[in-house]
Formats: sequence, structure tokens, C-alpha cells
Amino acid sequence: MIADETVERVRESADIVGVIGEYVELKRQGSDFRGPCPFHQGTHRNFSVSPKKQMYYCFVCHEGGDVFNFLTKRLGVDWPTAVRMVAEKSGIEVVETQSRRGPEEKDDREPFWEVNAAAADYFRKMLWEDDLGREARAYVEQRDISRELADRVGLGFAPREIGLMRSYLNTLGFEDDRLTEAGLLATPEGSTEPRPRFRGRLIFPIYDVSSRVVGFGGRLLGPGEPKYLNSPESRIFSKGRLLYGLNWAKQAARRDERMLVVEGYFDAVRLIGAGVESVVAPMGTALTEDQAKLIRRYTDRVYLLYDSDKAGLKATFRSGDELLRQGASVQVVTLPEGEDPDSFVRTHGARGLDAQLAASIDVFERKIQILERGGWFADLRKKRQALDRLLPTLRATSDPLTRDMYLGHASDAAGVTRELLERELNAGPRSRMGRAGRDPGPAVAHAAEQRGRPTPPPDMARVRRGDRRRTTERGTGAERELLRVVLHRPAYFEQVVERVGVEQFRDPELQRIFAAMIEAGPDASPEALAAGLDEDSVAVLQELLEETGGLEFAEKTIVGGLAVLHERELTGRMEEIDRLMPLANGREKDALMSEKMELVRELGRLGSRRYKGFSPRS
Ligand code: UTP
Ligand code: MN
Repeated sequence: MIADETVERVRESADIVGVIGEYVELKRQGSDFRGPCPFHQGTHRNFSVSPKKQMYYCFVCHEGGDVFNFLTKRLGVDWPTAVRMVAEKSGIEVVETQSRRGPEEKDDREPFWEVNAAAADYFRKMLWEDDLGREARAYVEQRDISRELADRVGLGFAPREIGLMRSYLNTLGFEDDRLTEAGLLATPEGSTEPRPRFRGRLIFPIYDVSSRVVGFGGRLLGPGEPKYLNSPESRIFSKGRLLYGLNWAKQAARRDERMLVVEGYFDAVRLIGAGVESVVAPMGTALTEDQAKLIRRYTDRVYLLYDSDKAGLKATFRSGDELLRQGASVQVVTLPEGEDPDSFVRTHGARGLDAQLAASIDVFERKIQILERGGWFADLRKKRQALDRLLPTLRATSDPLTRDMYLGHASDAAGVTRELLERELNAGPRSRMGRAGRDPGPAVAHAAEQRGRPTPPPDMARVRRGDRRRTTERGTGAERELLRVVLHRPAYFEQVVERVGVEQFRDPELQRIFAAMIEAGPDASPEALAAGLDEDSVAVLQELLEETGGLEFAEKTIVGGLAVLHERELTGRMEEIDRLMPLANGREKDALMSEKMELVRELGRLGSRRYKGFSPRS
């Protein structure tokens, strides 16, 4: 047998026009397709296929159904075969559950859907029928949510009271174990009595695509933290794979040929109430890959309605990249300052929202617009950074036509040639930024470590702290030695401060210690130094103070360390120039060239060769 969910998935991703079109000659008529009916051998175009409804129907013989019905009737295959045929066309793998599990056997998550449904009932009763729900009823009214709308989305209320829900559900036969596993009860540390997870909160049941209650989101009625609390992550509730509202939106998205993405529960509910049903909420975060794929099953046109603050923009662009990767077209809606979809539609209605949708702009255009307004294309160095922000989105864009259009716009905006951008695109993401001080990220550092030279002698203190990144960055060993020697031999302090800036330390803890030393002066006690430092930096300081080896070579260590840092600084700037060069115009190129020549001369003066690979500890 094939799992219900798989069947649903196959049905939803089926190209019904494509499948039926192999047997019937179909022509577009409005939003549907028409052809001669294969069932009564009709000759007129009375047979209609609707991609939105995912159904076919003959107006003469009244034969109709979904894509699977068509195949079973037309080809005489059995139903599972029809499902498998369609699945194959959409590239979905159909795993049949073992036949010893009879068709009457349930999904093993069923017990939790069941208890959640009962809990949702209880929450609803509390909201509308119980004295304990009075304050919540007033809150719902104050937020301008009608009773009808509340019932449509199953709104409820979890009172602060501790034992009610448990005994109600126990009476219905749901044991504590199941309530706990469903995330409805939790036993606090140091206690034996379980308590409800949701207390004093307005409850939004969260449904999966098949309208089963898989979890809850609860909002405090007043101020407090956290404002919203969701069911804990589990086998049945996985926030990143769910979209709030998808069960209602799936039909509407097909019909409207679009999906709106809003941040939260109230936004989605408000829109539904205003008759805009093609809306989902990822519950406060950017879309995950799974969520983007989910949306893409129903439509390829997506409108993002995140806040326009910094966090909202970040979520917008991350979601945009995920959707572009799935081949969707992505529009960004920018609501008036201080408004979210809930507040906006509450005052301006669906008509007002339509106007905002009409004024939306493409996600890539929006990115360019923001960079332009921030002056990011004006100066060469900033331009380089701006392109580094655009390239990942270009790479994410899977639709070739869209990508080509984006390339054109990016090249216009930045004033660089298409060829340059194409070369950068094909070069793939840079594993290491040329600019000095850029952190390549733990993953890259880890990879570098994997293919690195023989493992350096283990530094026990670091191994203990589980920190392997620091030791891999170029020159961090020298930074550390330099600092260690100066800590033990304050006489060298002036000499070092004169030649090294705080920003030249790449290791964050070493950098903070050095800054504290400058602040406190050469004669400060370790205690005084530690006073202004965070826990990690103090731990490092401690290590440095405990290591007293090799101090007889203090002078040599300091000269060598200074040289390594200086050389690193110079080569970092040269790498940056190399990255800027292709973007530069004639005049800028000249300036960059002479800057680089100067760096080469300085490097020569440094006699960097003598110090190359200097590492007093190895
Ligand atoms: P917002 O903070 O934007 O709230 O969170 P909102 O939707 O406007 O809510 P109201 O109008 O103040 O009631 C957006 C979404 O982020 C998630 C929720 O899904 C919320 O709907 N969220 C927010 C959390 O999961 N936890 C939080 O503490 C806050
Ligand atoms: Mn809100």
C-alpha cells in the first residue's frame, strides 16, 4: 500500500494536463484545457481538464475525476499503478509500505494527531464556553477577530489553571505519556507533577497539509516573554517543514496562481478573514528549503510580506534565495512603515492589499535597490562587497531566463560587464575572502584543517575547550606568541603597541586581550586585565599566563611575530587589490596598480622571506 501522504504529494505535483494530454488532444481555453472526450468517444471539445482543480470532467457523459481516476479508467490499470505512473513522471519516489501492514493499519503518528485534535477541542471550549476564557474572549474581540473567523482557524485558549486539561484529556482516555510526547504536558525539573506547556495563551492549532492538528502556537494575552510559544520539535511537529495555513491555502494558491508569505499567525488569519486565502506563514523565520519546496508544489509565483526592518529584510532575502532555487518568481511587498499584514489589512482591507501587491517588486531588483540607495555601487571597494552580496542570489536562481535577466540588471547597476559577472558566477563561491580579517567560517576552516599539513602538537587547553578553528588561521600562532611574551615581559609592550593595531589580531579572544592591555597599560595586574574581559578571553589569558616556556628568546619571538603580522597585513591587502582589479575603470586601475607596487616594495623591505612560516612554537 502507498502512504496517504505520498498519494497526496503525487496528486499535488502531478501535471494533469501533461498526463491526460498524452491520451487526448487538449487545447487551452481560458484557464482550462478542452478536447474530445475519450470515454464516450466524443468529437466535440466537451471534455475539460482543469489544472487548478486538478480534475477532469466531460460535460456530455459526466465522466470526471482526478488524474489517478483518469488512468485507471482509460488504461484499466489498478489504482496503485496509476499513482506510481504519475509519481514517475513527477520524479517522486513511491515507497510501498510492507504488505503485512494491512490497508487498515494506521500511520504511527495517528495517536498524536488524535490527542492534538482533542486538545484543540478543549482549548476551543475554554475560549468560548468557560469563565476562565473571559479575558481571552475580550482579547480576540479587541484584535478584531470575529467568532466566525476564529472558528474557521480553530482558535482556542489555554488557561493558566494547571490540572484541567490533563483531567479532561485523561477522562477521554489519553494517558499522561501521550500528552507528554505530544508536547502538551511537561514535568518541570525538581517536580513530579506534569504541567501544561501552554498556560494563559491564545492557542492557534497548527495543521499539516492534510488538515491534521500537528501542534500549537500560543500567544500571551498581554506583554511578556516569549510572546509566542510553539509545540516542541518532534516527529510530528517540525516547524521548518510546516507552513501555517497551507491546508487552507493549497486550493487557493492554485486558483489565484500565487502564494503570499507572511511572518506570523495573526497576519495569516487576518488575510484569510479578508478573503485572501492563498497565504502561509513560516511562523516567524525565513523559509527553509523544505518550505520553499512545499510552496512550489502549488504555484511558482510568490509574494514575500516580511517586515521591512533589518531582521525582516534578512528573512526576505534568505527566503528569496530558497524560492529562486526552486524556480519560483519572487516579489517583495513593502508595506508602509510600522505596518504588518495584520494591521495593514485590518485598516485597508483586501483592496488595499491588492494595491500593495501590484506595487511589489522583484526580489533581486529589491536587493539592487537597497544597495543602490546605500551608495554601495559608488565606490570600488564597496562595489566589490555589493557584488559579493548579489552573486549568491544569482547562483541560487535556477530558472535560466530569470538568471539571465538578473545578470543584465546587476551588470547595469554595478557598471561591470556581463562577462565579468558570468566569470565570477562560474568560479563558484569563494572559499576564502581576499580581504584581510574576513573570517572564512568554521566549515571552511574545518575543511582546511582536514587537508592541512601534519597536525600541530595538541594544545591541551584548546582541545579541552573543543576549539579547533583558531589554530588553523594563518598567523594566529604568531599572534598568540606575541601576546604571551609581552604578557610575561612588559618591557616589550611599547615596541609592540607602536607597530600593531588591535584590528590586526584575527583571533577574537586575543584581540580583546590586546585591547584590554592597551586600555590598562603595561603595568596592569592580570586581575585588572581580566576584569574587563568576557569568560572565554579570561580563559585564554589564563593559559597565556601559565605558559612560561621559551621566554629566554623573548626578543626573537617578538621581532618574528611582528614580521608575521605585518606580512599578513600586506598580503591581505594585495589579495584584496587582486579582487578589485577586474571591477576597476582605467583611472581606478592605475591607482590600484601603484598601491600594489607600494605594497610589494614594503614587503620586500620587510624581507618577508626570512620569516616565512615563522612559528616559534612548532
Ligand atoms: P511577531 O513578533 O512579528 O508577532 O512574530 P506578530 O505576528 O505581529 O504577532 P502579534 O501581532 O504581536 O500578535 C511573528 C511570528 O513569529 C513567531 C510567531 O509565529 C509569530 O506569529 N514568533 C514570534 C515566535 O515563534 N516566538 C516569539 O516569541 C515571537
Ligand atoms: Mn502583528
